[in-house]
Amino acid sequence: MVQSPIIPVVGELIRNHPGAISLGQGVVSYPPPQQAFDQIGAILANPELHKYQAVYGVPELLELIEAKLRDENGIEAQPHSRVVVTAGGNMAFVNALLAVADAGDEIILQTPYYFNHEMAITMANCGATLVPTDENYQLQPRLIAEAITSRTRAVVTISPNNPTGAVYSESSLREVNGICRARGVYHIHDEAYEYFTYGGARHFSPGSIEGSAGHTISLYSLSKAYGFASWRIGWMVIPDHLFEAVNKIQDTILICPPVVSQFAAIGAMRAGAEYCRAQVERLASVREMVMNELAALDDCLVIPPADGAFYFFLKLDAEMKPLALVERLVNEHGVAAIPGNAFGMEDGCYLRVAYGALRPETVAEGVGRLARGIKTILGA
Ligand SMILES: Cc1ncc(COP(=O)(O)O)c(C=O)c1O
Repeated sequence: MVQSPIIPVVGELIRNHPGAISLGQGVVSYPPPQQAFDQIGAILANPELHKYQAVYGVPELLELIEAKLRDENGIEAQPHSRVVVTAGGNMAFVNALLAVADAGDEIILQTPYYFNHEMAITMANCGATLVPTDENYQLQPRLIAEAITSRTRAVVTISPNNPTGAVYSESSLREVNGICRARGVYHIHDEAYEYFTYGGARHFSPGSIEGSAGHTISLYSLSKAYGFASWRIGWMVIPDHLFEAVNKIQDTILICPPVVSQFAAIGAMRAGAEYCRAQVERLASVREMVMNELAALDDCLVIPPADGAFYFFLKLDAEMKPLALVERLVNEHGVAAIPGNAFGMEDGCYLRVAYGALRPETVAEGVGRLARGIKTILGA
């Protein structure tokens, strides 16, 4: 059975407790850059643009994406790969899944996983093979290799990671990409948080590895980087031989990504990575504050390193079911986080804490409530 989306469940708890602070949903607090809005006039000025446009994206946006991939990620989009603009990173994942897998096939996910990936796999009547990450939520390439069977079609990795905030090393991503190549399976890598790294952590794109174009699918999103969540724009870089299949899928489900949003995306991408980097600098101090506050709880929880995205994935020393803990945190302490079982962590009590969506003062108040709540509830 497909799990129910957890965000609305926690959202309902919060609605029933006015004043509760949500460290739940993984969105950013800032809007798109002004340049995005400036582009919208182009749509109004050209009646042709109200008609369907190309399935895989408008040419101007594709050019900007290809230049960005070359300059920032070391990925050459042509001739061995192709870019397809999608209505967000989630849709890019579904496109990839439907293009590479049939019902009954297996897709390898790392636990904790991003719940929408697992839900999509279940909906496609495929099986999610779960491979645990290590105690620091890092990849375990040997276990991934062992989990591959004749039904495996793809290995999925996300870095920087949702829900853990872990940033995978270049060497581990190279190793996984090499395993996929040797075993004839695709490596689907989600880079939605590529700009969100802190300290010395470095983002690496496996699509830049020489010889990786034929088996690597890279997924991107404007949702986080450019405050674009509701505009629904992302893209995928796919091997050239999947282009026809992905076009069929996207044509059937979407016809074309919303053209007004694609024009806004042109403006956002002209503003460029600098727009996001300025926001990440600000987030870095919020992250420090959250980390310092939670560090005081070291007798009742562990916080593995989280050098990316805007999440911490706490492991609590508690027997409680995580949803029961979240209910008490909302009801008794006015703060919400996401229970770890939504990310496939069934053994143990885990909580995902997101710090990207709120003003720093609100995060500070929220994390203070969280720390006091956990201490009181666990009797630490
Ligand atoms: C890893 C990851 N991929 C994809 C998405 C969804 O992105 P989009 O809004 O582009 O569909 C999210 C959103 O939280 C995410 O965390």
